[in-house]
Amino acid sequence: MKILVKSGSVSKFKCDLLAINLFSGVKSPGGATGVVDKSLHGAISALIKSGEITGKLGEVNLIHTQGKLPATQVIVVGLGESKDFDLDRVRIAASAVIREAKRIKAKKVATIVHGAGLGGLELPAAAQALVEGSLLGAYHFPGYAKEKDDSFFQVQDLSVIELAPAKIKAIVSGLKVGEIISQAVNNARDLINAPANVVTPTYLANQAKKIAGVEVQVLGLAEAKKLGMDAYYSVSKGSKEPAKFIAIKYGQGKPEIALVGKGITFDSGGISIKPANKMWQMKTDMSGAAAVLETMRAIAKLGIRKNVVGLLPCTENMPAGDAQKPGDVVGSLSGKTIEILSTDAEGRMVLADAITYAKKLGVKQIIDVATLTGACVIALGDVASGIMGNDQPLVELLISAGKRSGEKLWQLPLFDEYKEYSKSDIADIKNCTEQGKASTSIGGLFLQLFAEDTKWAHIDIAGTAYLDSERGYLVKGATGVMVRTFIEYLRS
Ligand code: BES
Ligand code: ZN
Ligand code: ZN
Repeated sequence: MKILVKSGSVSKFKCDLLAINLFSGVKSPGGATGVVDKSLHGAISALIKSGEITGKLGEVNLIHTQGKLPATQVIVVGLGESKDFDLDRVRIAASAVIREAKRIKAKKVATIVHGAGLGGLELPAAAQALVEGSLLGAYHFPGYAKEKDDSFFQVQDLSVIELAPAKIKAIVSGLKVGEIISQAVNNARDLINAPANVVTPTYLANQAKKIAGVEVQVLGLAEAKKLGMDAYYSVSKGSKEPAKFIAIKYGQGKPEIALVGKGITFDSGGISIKPANKMWQMKTDMSGAAAVLETMRAIAKLGIRKNVVGLLPCTENMPAGDAQKPGDVVGSLSGKTIEILSTDAEGRMVLADAITYAKKLGVKQIIDVATLTGACVIALGDVASGIMGNDQPLVELLISAGKRSGEKLWQLPLFDEYKEYSKSDIADIKNCTEQGKASTSIGGLFLQLFAEDTKWAHIDIAGTAYLDSERGYLVKGATGVMVRTFIEYLRS
């Protein structure tokens, strides 16, 4: 979908579908909606009166213009109550328009910037959210089937119309940012939705090497082992598919912030094998790595002024004759020893070594993102990601970046008392506990041991990385969660 900007009146613009909006409770529309209503001889007011158009968030109503306007059809999208209006509602409304455009196969769509007039939002942010909702809502994973059904239809162009020429510059700047961010999220979704026989550690390394404006270093398993990454090695040694530890550096000079993404391209559980039911979904266990990889691509495109390194410890987790076993004790890059209670708690092992690697680079801040625990899915569902950390200001900055991006983060505790659960008789720590109490926090505390006194936050996206059914601008399947939050955090 091409994003264009046009200065002029909505009543003059020729297109297949023209999007305008309405807050709930509004009886006589103003702004662009009022202009269109007049051209349509009061058709919109009449539909409001009859109760067909209510302005409920995401509600869409189509009106054929019958030649009264250059646009063939008009779509009135609901923005909900004006008191609840925010950027995420712009995204939801924009995605509702694009979904309807796809359904009626409208190639040329035009829209106003929802919320920029009566909504009171800042123009660049509203324009950014408009593009995000449109491009994220239009996403469709192409897949591999020969037959292409209706879901493959894509809107050709989306023209954003603004009457005041003075506002165009602000709109263009917001649209550009929104486009870069949405492409990054959709790329991440592609990587996550693709099967594990396509998206291997080598595939991810090749994707990283294609990013412009960054420096990429890829370690094979032998090199990682030589450096002392024994925890990462232990997870990987039972897999035939070659492991890759990927480092992506952006910026001038020493990196200050490390983003670490769990990159298990398939998690069978290893010797502690998972039940067969839904095991296929463990192709998404590299969602953290995908989020970091695409964040790095986006920040390089946006030219942000920070020094960031993205670390992606990638491997499969498989059962085999030479796989790690429950009861094994292994070392780590930090020197700390780990007793493996379950080979299915593999994410924290690869993250532990990546966190130590980041510390050795001398970063001041580490943020890791991982599909780490089933317990996080139980606690927060697919609505919010869990966040934990050793630095409250960092946790709060990430939560607020998430709020602005429309990605919910909910803090979970790292109580000292929990540490008792994972004490080992024969090593520095157990990789998990037998009882599974406070399992998400136990995962966090394990990582905290490796972060030590470096400022660190951990985000568990086990529930939010993948949706079983669509919600707003998030279609069924991979969400690309945390790409938007990370970019927002790094931009501010
Ligand atoms: N990749 C899984 C976590 C997961 C579960 C992600 C469901 C997405 C959906 C992780 O490696 C895992 O298996 N965790 C175990 C840890 C346990 C053994 C302490 C879990 O949560 O069951
Ligand atoms: Zn696992
Ligand atoms: Zn896993």
